[in-house]
Amino acid sequence: MPTYPPEPFRIKVTESIRLIPPAEREKALKEAGYNLFSMKAEDIFIDLLTDSGTGAMSQEQWAAIMRGDESYAGARSFYRLKAAVEDIFGFKYFVPAHQGRAAENILAACLVKPGQYVPSNMHFDTTDANIRARGGRPTNLVIDEAFDPANPHPFKGNIDIAKLKAFIEKVGAANIPFGMVTVTNNAGGGQPVSMENLKAIADVYHSYKIPFFIDAARYAENSFFIKEREPGYAHKSVKEIAREMFSLADGMTMSAKKDAIVNIGGLLCTNDEKLFENVKNELILREGFPTYGGLAGRDLDAMAVGLYEGLDEAYLAYRLGQTAYLAARINEAGIPTIQPAGGHAVYLDAAAVLPHIPQSEFPGQALCVELYREGAIRGVEIGSVMFAHMDADTGQMVYPKLELLRLAIPRRTYTQSHMDYVADTLRRIKERAASIRGYKFTYAPELLRHFTAKFQPL
Ligand code: F0G
Repeated sequence: MPTYPPEPFRIKVTESIRLIPPAEREKALKEAGYNLFSMKAEDIFIDLLTDSGTGAMSQEQWAAIMRGDESYAGARSFYRLKAAVEDIFGFKYFVPAHQGRAAENILAACLVKPGQYVPSNMHFDTTDANIRARGGRPTNLVIDEAFDPANPHPFKGNIDIAKLKAFIEKVGAANIPFGMVTVTNNAGGGQPVSMENLKAIADVYHSYKIPFFIDAARYAENSFFIKEREPGYAHKSVKEIAREMFSLADGMTMSAKKDAIVNIGGLLCTNDEKLFENVKNELILREGFPTYGGLAGRDLDAMAVGLYEGLDEAYLAYRLGQTAYLAARINEAGIPTIQPAGGHAVYLDAAAVLPHIPQSEFPGQALCVELYREGAIRGVEIGSVMFAHMDADTGQMVYPKLELLRLAIPRRTYTQSHMDYVADTLRRIKERAASIRGYKFTYAPELLRHFTAKFQPL
């Protein structure tokens, strides 16, 4: 059992949570159409739906909020954020955006033309949808080890470099407006990408003159994994590692709601001056003036402080230790999770817990509902509800390789006893797993359907 690192902070403000009785939970489930996204947050006891925007800000961030400059243009807050972004990421140009998907939308609007491909290790669902919404084809080229949940490969987020080269040769570099990599690979288990792989990815993209963008949502966690696991990086600071990583790329999109530990915010960075001009015009159309990008001045200040706190190594050791602890306790209950534990979340192998439920009946969703029923805990399905789709060329349903339930851990928010409660709840579910049944859709929109779909138990 990994030791649970003591939280490197103490609690100054609290927020009450309440465990509602089983009958009320049942009613809430029915009213939500068995979709946990449609639930009232007050009916949830432990909310592990996402680590996005759900973290606890520090006293320094709350103090920074009071310094927010709400000037429409050229606010001091913008320049404080600019200094942090330049110091940490080192790109020539940047704009704030209200969150990660806004940055993705703008990048896709500027660069993706119908029929073009955007390769990555694995695109997150919003990135995937933003590329598809422009007629593009997001393509996932992660290493095969990523699809074997038990494989303990230390960098399961890596791109398969041979597959990447073959893919570019096949579709032609002219049909690839930019290439990406997601750090850490959220859709594949919160798994890191090694520096060696990042260098190889950059070399391949650049040898074909394809601009390289990093989806940097969890770059600090990725950098800490590199420090812990990759030879030659133990003595480097996480900030130095991050800087080296971004020096390989031509730009990045980032949801600041993760490793910048803010409740809202995003970034889009580039070294390309012409692209930057187009980005600013798109931003003004959709988000706001380039010095605030859809955020309040105080949000920019909270981000400027949070970016540094997200790189703090005592914090990162606690953060990744907490995730590893929860994974180990769940494994102890006989439930397999993606190995090794990810950075921000534990990914339960729902197909292994519920082998009697076929993919067309959503085993990940079934486990998700059961976790709420048993313990008022909210997780999120990352499986067929999120990713099964009709193939544009063949007209066939394509199912994802893994059916997962993700338990994402908000930053600096829950304690060890909360983690123990989650593991104990799962142990009880595991004991009656054979009696759990699947679900069918009663409503599903075409894009990003997991957010608003409705289900019926079978
Ligand atoms: N990229 C990655 C890797 C993400 O995990 C997310 C969001 C985004 C982009 C989009 O950022 O939410 O700020 O618009 N992930 C959240 C999650 C929603 O729960 O994993 P956003």
